[in-house]
Amino acid sequence: MCGIVGLVADEFQVLELIEALEKLEYRGYDSAGVAFLKDGSVKVYKNKGKVGMLRESLAASLSELTSTGIAHTRWATHGEPNDVNAHPHLDCSSKISVVHNGIIENFRQLKARLKEIGHNFVSDTDTEVIPHLIEEYYNGELLEAVRKALLRLEGSYAIAVVHADHPGVIVAARKGSPLVVGKGDCCTVLASDLTPLLRYTRDVIFLEDGEVALLKRNEVKVFGIDGLERTKSYNTINWSYESAQKSGYKYFMLKEINEEPQCIVSVLAGRVSSGKVILEEISQLEGVLKDSQTLKVVACGTSYHSALVFKHFVENNSDLTVDVDVSSEFRYRKPHIKPGEILVAVSQSGETADTLESIRLASRCGAKILSLTNVVGSTITRESDCVLYLNAGPEISVAATKSYLSQLILLYLLGLKIVELRGNWNEKSNELLDKILRLPEVFENVLKRSEVVESIARKYKNYRHFMYIGRGYGYPTALEGALKLKEISYIHATAYPAGELKHGPIAMLGPEFPVFAIAPGDSLVMKMKSNIIECKSRNAKIVAITNDANHEIEEVVDDVIFVNTTAEELYPILMTPVIQLFAYFVADNLGLDPDKPRNLAKSVTVE
Ligand code: AGP
Repeated sequence: MCGIVGLVADEFQVLELIEALEKLEYRGYDSAGVAFLKDGSVKVYKNKGKVGMLRESLAASLSELTSTGIAHTRWATHGEPNDVNAHPHLDCSSKISVVHNGIIENFRQLKARLKEIGHNFVSDTDTEVIPHLIEEYYNGELLEAVRKALLRLEGSYAIAVVHADHPGVIVAARKGSPLVVGKGDCCTVLASDLTPLLRYTRDVIFLEDGEVALLKRNEVKVFGIDGLERTKSYNTINWSYESAQKSGYKYFMLKEINEEPQCIVSVLAGRVSSGKVILEEISQLEGVLKDSQTLKVVACGTSYHSALVFKHFVENNSDLTVDVDVSSEFRYRKPHIKPGEILVAVSQSGETADTLESIRLASRCGAKILSLTNVVGSTITRESDCVLYLNAGPEISVAATKSYLSQLILLYLLGLKIVELRGNWNEKSNELLDKILRLPEVFENVLKRSEVVESIARKYKNYRHFMYIGRGYGYPTALEGALKLKEISYIHATAYPAGELKHGPIAMLGPEFPVFAIAPGDSLVMKMKSNIIECKSRNAKIVAITNDANHEIEEVVDDVIFVNTTAEELYPILMTPVIQLFAYFVADNLGLDPDKPRNLAKSVTVE
């Protein structure tokens, strides 16, 4: 995720802005920039690449003194990572400078309108509309101009704004992206998280959505979007620098699981309107998606599991057949691809070697490549015809968590688009889309049950084997649950479709080999229940995840974790944090570091 910092004081060296930015580097980013006020103008330096490069290009100015500055690390969402798209961005007069974290969903409409009335744009970013909108409303009152501009924005943002004519002032605001402000001795400071603030103060205000802050050297005032001042109290923070990086969570993995409600908002942003899925990025593929008989998908690891959910969803809701392959297998088989067909590649990193080689193979056969990735400008995106971005923000823990969740949601949206294009849209499709839109609230509810998951994880942590079982939509969830457990806890975990048990795997079960059952109250619940009873009669302990309308499963299991009741198709989404938290708590209780599992890398760029 992008990082923002801002500092107001009587005088400070530009170097302090760079040092503050370095505290946000752990969040992951692809470009960096800084803007500060000097001699009645705004000076901007920015570049693609690391903060270290910015430090070098600024070498001569690092000791310059200023009273007001903002800085930014960018994680690209709209427009490639390059020098021009890096923040801060300026208005036409080059007096207003803005850094932004989030996504402005209506930027295309705003940009078109602003261009009509004479504004000149230089970047591909959504952010650049903000300084121009502020310029439009500015008549000497910066706070008021920012507030009016914010009323025009749809989407999410945390912003910081400076104006050449207002030394000693930063206006900041938040809606859907975090922002913390603090007051130190003779300075005020803001940032996306606590880490840069700790050098200056331990007394901070966490801005809430819809709030606008005015920072001056000696005071912070907070207003509502209605312009009325609000009384806010300071929180005193006792976190260390390291725990501040993780927002107080013990590990990045836990932090990233807890970011999942926000990821749902980000991946949906701008993609649903008037009851329909809008995926402008794939408009050139619509004809093929409408008429094809089959769609091929390649992916590895966790991404492969999200692709399996997609297969179930599309095949159950339309007449399209979906073939999902592990990339490392696909690339060494004879490709049955005809020119003009589509190959979908799912890859969080956009760099996975086997997936990359699969799309190269398909391209040579004349296929069109549609990729779903999280990293703008990654190799797979550069070699694809169309890209759908996850917008999940960087994932630091090696174990994929929030990116898996974002893949699922984006694949459901793609699935619904296919349903619509093929004329299979019906009342159920409306209901599913409606339920997807309401997922963020439901999700918070699931995360609130993490204590139950932890106590069950503690109880089972010393078993050396685990068998995950599921049916239908539950089978990919079983595969992903087993992968998560083995990769971070080193416990042997295997996954089977529950109907396969009697064909061999059940021979393994016994008191030392527990079963983790993915058992929502769906159309296959009675089949699952009888599979669970079969396992139970082999004296295996059973942990089950089900939904809160399916209490009868309690009769046949040892431990149960409930999620909210939803449509059958959407349980893979709601059960995602449960399987992730279970693996996390087992690893943590075994004293293992889940962020850095042995033998694994975040991007698998070699075969
Ligand atoms: C998941 O926790 C793993 N880190 C791994 O399976 C990963 O999903 C796989 O390597 C694929 O990576 P990608 O999505 O970046 O292509």
